Amino acid sequence: MKFKRMLLGFSFLIGVPVLAQTPTYQDVSKPIEERVKDALSRMTLEEKIAMTHAQSKFSSPGVPRLGIPEVWATDGPHGIRPEVLWDEWEQAGWTNDSCIAFPALTCLAATWNPEVSHLYGKSIGEEARYRKKDILLGPGVNIYRTPLNGRNFEYMGEDPYLSATMVVPYIKGVQENGVAACVKHYALNNQEFKRHTTNVNLSDRALYEIYLPAFKAAVQEGGTWSIMGSYNLYQGIHACHNKRLLQDILRDEWGFDGVVVSDWGGVHDTEQAIFNGLDLEFGSWTNGLSDGTRSAYDNYYLADPYLKLIREGKVGTKELDEKVGNILRLIFRTSMNTGKPFGSLGSPEHGKAGRTIGEEGIVLLQNTNNLLPIDLNKAKTIAVVGENAIKMMTVGGGSSSLKVKYEISPLDGLVQRIGSKAKVVYARGYVGDPTGEYNGVKSGQDLKDDRSEDELLAEALAAAKTADYVIFIGGLNKSNNQDCEDTDRAALELPYAQNRVINELAKVNKNLIVVNISGNAVAMPWVKSVPAIVQGWYLGSEAGTALASVLVGDVAPSGKLPFTFPVRLEDVGAHKLGEYPGNAGELAQSTHAGDTINETYHDDIYVGYRWADKEKIQPLFPFGHGLSYTTFAYGKPTADKQTMTADATITFTVTVKNTGTREGQEVVQLYISDKKSSLPRPVKELKGFKKVKLAPGEEQTVTLTIDQKALSYFDDAKHAWIAEPGKFEALVGSSSRDIKGAVPFELR
Ligand code: BGC
Repeated sequence: MKFKRMLLGFSFLIGVPVLAQTPTYQDVSKPIEERVKDALSRMTLEEKIAMTHAQSKFSSPGVPRLGIPEVWATDGPHGIRPEVLWDEWEQAGWTNDSCIAFPALTCLAATWNPEVSHLYGKSIGEEARYRKKDILLGPGVNIYRTPLNGRNFEYMGEDPYLSATMVVPYIKGVQENGVAACVKHYALNNQEFKRHTTNVNLSDRALYEIYLPAFKAAVQEGGTWSIMGSYNLYQGIHACHNKRLLQDILRDEWGFDGVVVSDWGGVHDTEQAIFNGLDLEFGSWTNGLSDGTRSAYDNYYLADPYLKLIREGKVGTKELDEKVGNILRLIFRTSMNTGKPFGSLGSPEHGKAGRTIGEEGIVLLQNTNNLLPIDLNKAKTIAVVGENAIKMMTVGGGSSSLKVKYEISPLDGLVQRIGSKAKVVYARGYVGDPTGEYNGVKSGQDLKDDRSEDELLAEALAAAKTADYVIFIGGLNKSNNQDCEDTDRAALELPYAQNRVINELAKVNKNLIVVNISGNAVAMPWVKSVPAIVQGWYLGSEAGTALASVLVGDVAPSGKLPFTFPVRLEDVGAHKLGEYPGNAGELAQSTHAGDTINETYHDDIYVGYRWADKEKIQPLFPFGHGLSYTTFAYGKPTADKQTMTADATITFTVTVKNTGTREGQEVVQLYISDKKSSLPRPVKELKGFKKVKLAPGEEQTVTLTIDQKALSYFDDAKHAWIAEPGKFEALVGSSSRDIKGAVPFELR
């Protein structure tokens, strides 16, 4: 490679070699578009085709002859996936690829803190760079439409504004490292059940108002260098080669100049892949090749079949040059960016970052009589019950599964923090998923337990009876039909008879704390008999330390829910309207396994709290909800004007005071309500928020500014965003159901 580069560095003048300038494509001082053009002009047809598809599970070849490096991708989005074999999903068995696992993206969204999101992106970007990866497959921003979606834990919740705001700093942080973020899964991959064959139909209004804003922000504000097409279909065409999504919206409307990567095996048709905006095909044995066939890359849709069509003159090379141009641009931004940092893996700083994200994302859902934080001066014995107190959660769940440098379990975290002050006793309580292996990475835990449900319960009750506090740590895990890729949950209820255990614990000890570990809402039929409830997410390497510091009050909780906890499934639009999961029932009778399932989003724009507000349903815990160990008093919100003109902004001001005795953080939320509109509108929509840290007694003035974008709806008929003059109301609150004050204003 060096030799080739040297040759390129010479030109020949009347037979005498003289040292020439660096070729344009290698010259970092030249504008990137010139470099792209120059590189393209030097490449053969075969070299170009080679760049548009994988050469291994996670890489594409580059152009060795020109010294253009390979492109290496990695999962994403919670940590850097262990190296896998060239041709297999199995881990390669390296001894130097153990990472820090950061909290799942639902937890990040729950921080409602863009600075924390930047810290996340920067830290994971550094890990990716150290591992010499050019594309990080994440973050995910599919909207949380049903609590059954097995992959919600990889996304940022139900609200387009929140996820759009939180995704941008993550991308910037990653890309500061010369690593491309790859935002996924574009678009409408809102369930895992039959994800390859579900055809989504919805109104343009729902598409633009609910499902696209986070992707649009990722492109236009985050400047993401790549995006991943999703597995599902939209309007009858797979998203990985869907002209409307990729060409019309992503490139033409949003001006995306990065690489569209297919989801692995998401391509189904060569011509569509050529013409509809896909750039780079990755796969899992595609093109009719049977599962497990090795080195199938030449058969990929954008490999030999593409080359053949060009050679036969059936398609031209314009699209090929566009694809390769996009890939070259990414290479110049990443691996051929000579100014990029070197990164670091598994560093103490990354562990600390993971812990901070976890501490800020944990949500205190309920705290009757201020049971929490645990009073270490009074507690002599603390009983910890539940499998999730000990189970490693970084192994499993699908492609986001990790091989971690370490993972501190909740039980270990609690023992470390309080073991010298109080006795911690542990009882399993129930057996859920004792397995712990993913693609050759083993958790190393032996969680097999053959005791009966009654025996496990009896042990837990015995421990609980004599304890000062009982902490039940349960919820879901990352096994099939829990929170796991490729499967959806079967029900909203907690699995493995956990409700019985919780109910019985509540009877024997009134100081019961339930910590729910999940990336999804769960039903809580025992909500009235459990004083303290904490949403604990999947917290990664520092799970136990983050959780312990919140439980004992080293840190006051400040997370707010990024999605609604419904009481029951029927309180969710997609379920109430009976459409989830599409016409799968009819197809169960069908003999064609690959038949498409049609799913129309009749819930339209009414997703999450928008549905609950419209139907006047009281959620179990509303969107934006989260308590602290201190209290906050809001002043009366005001606006800087009563009437706003179309191109102006309006600023709302509210004071927030910490009225308790300890430091805490509050997320001030701004919802906009359109009082009268030509089209039906949600009761209110989140359009601004700010997280503030306040010392005891401290008061701060929070300002939130919006422009007419915050007042607009998407009009299908006009294909345009419309801010309709008329009366609006700004609602300022501590959650979507705890509005502290309203300010009327008008748009002229
Ligand atoms: C997932 C992607 C992932 C890819 C590579 C696919 O099955 O849907 O999110 O990035 O595999 O592991």
